[in-house]
Amino acid sequence: GLKKKEVHVLCLGLDNSGKTTIINKLKPSNAQTQDIVPTIGFSIEKFKTSSLSFTVFDMSGQGRYRNLWEHYYKEGQAIIFVIDSSDKLRMVVAKEELDTLLNHPDIKHRRLPILFFANKMDLRDAISSVKVCQLLSLENIKDKPWHICASDALKGEGLQDGVDWLQDQIQ
Ligand code: GTP
Ligand code: MG
Repeated sequence: GLKKKEVHVLCLGLDNSGKTTIINKLKPSNAQTQDIVPTIGFSIEKFKTSSLSFTVFDMSGQGRYRNLWEHYYKEGQAIIFVIDSSDKLRMVVAKEELDTLLNHPDIKHRRLPILFFANKMDLRDAISSVKVCQLLSLENIKDKPWHICASDALKGEGLQDGVDWLQDQIQ
């Protein structure tokens, strides 16, 4: 068959938001790992959709590693930004990191698609994706296509919707 188009994606967001769990779930079941540990630095992962071959830079969200993110911005053709919808205390930190990202010279003037996962929607104290959208002021993003999906990475719910959107943006 035809060779799939290759796309580089950056997976960003605070530590414990579920980035690695999401990327793991997007792989074929025989390639998934059972125990996921906090990412040290970053990890390069791959998964395919019907028409694309994704290479993901799964970055650590821990404070001490967040300064690594910007070194990969030039490489990225799309961003997956993951939020722990149950972590209300750190929603403002997530917003700060997002705003810093959006204002970075390697991101600011590019029409990069951004897929947001309002993750951990299964948890009782999770807020809705609409509320996450408000708290992060996503409506202010005018120069980039973006989309937000509620997700439960443990069950894999909401992930396909997001990846379908991303694939449409990249065609
Ligand atoms: P760093 O690598 O440290 O930046 O974290 P991360 O964003 O990669 O988070 P990771 O995927 O390691 O998940 C952190 C914890 O959240 C793990 O215990 C996961 O099992 C859990 N988790 C991830 N997604 C979900 C979800 O949708 N629901 C629930 N309940 N737990 C989740
Ligand atoms: Mg991780």
